[in-house]
Amino acid sequence: MFNTMTVTKTAGALIGSLLFLLLVSWGASSLYHVGSAGHAAEGEAPAQAYTIPVEGAEEAAAEGEAAGETVDFEALLASADAAAGEKVFGKCKSCHKLDGTDGVGPHLNGVVGRVVAASEGFNYSEAMKAHGGNWEPEPLQAFLEDPKGVVPGTKMTFAGLKKPEDRANLIAYLQTVQ
Ligand code: HEC
Repeated sequence: MFNTMTVTKTAGALIGSLLFLLLVSWGASSLYHVGSAGHAAEGEAPAQAYTIPVEGAEEAAAEGEAAGETVDFEALLASADAAAGEKVFGKCKSCHKLDGTDGVGPHLNGVVGRVVAASEGFNYSEAMKAHGGNWEPEPLQAFLEDPKGVVPGTKMTFAGLKKPEDRANLIAYLQTVQ
C-alpha cells in the first residue's frame, strides 16, 4: 500500500497546503499593515493613517490665544454679539440687577463707563471704594476676567470669565442697558 504514488500524492498535498498557508499569511499581513506602523524604526513616528476631527479644537485654540497677552480686546468688542452677552449675563443675575436697584451686588445699569463704586446707597468694600477710575471696556474686561486679582479684597465672589469672547459679548450687552 505504500507505493510510490501514495507517497508522492501525500507529499504533494502537504506542500500544497503549506504554500497556501504561506500565501494567506502574507496576504493578511499586507492587508493589515498601515503605513510603516509595526516596523517603524526606533524614534521614528509611525505613519498616521487618518486624522480624527476633534470637536472643540478651535475653541481650545482660542483659549490658547487667551493665555498669551496678544488678545486685542477692542477688536473683539467691535465684533461682539450683544445677544450672546445677554446669555452670559445669566452668570451675574443672582447678584446684579438691571432695573436700577441693588441686590447682593450694585445694579449694573449704564455700568460701562460708569465711575467705579458709584451706586448710591450700595455698601461697597473698602477695596472697591479705593480702586478709583471708570469702568471703561478695558478695565471692566480685566476685572471680569479675574475680579479678586484686579481688585484684591473685593466682596464680589465670582471666579471670573476666562473666555475673552464671553467678556466682549457681555460688555457689548451691558452697553445696551442704560
Ligand atoms: C456672588 C455675587 C456676584 C456675582 C455672581 C457677580 N457679582 Fe459683580 N459684584 C458683586 C458684589 C458684592 C460687588 C461689590 C464689590 C465690592 O464692593 O467690592 C460687585 C461689583 C461689581 C462691579 C463693580 C460695580 C461698581 O459699581 O463699581 C461690576 C462691574 C460687576 N460686579 C460686574 C459683574 C458681572 C458682569 C458679573 C457676571 C459676569 C458679576 N459682577 C457677577 C457680586 C457679584
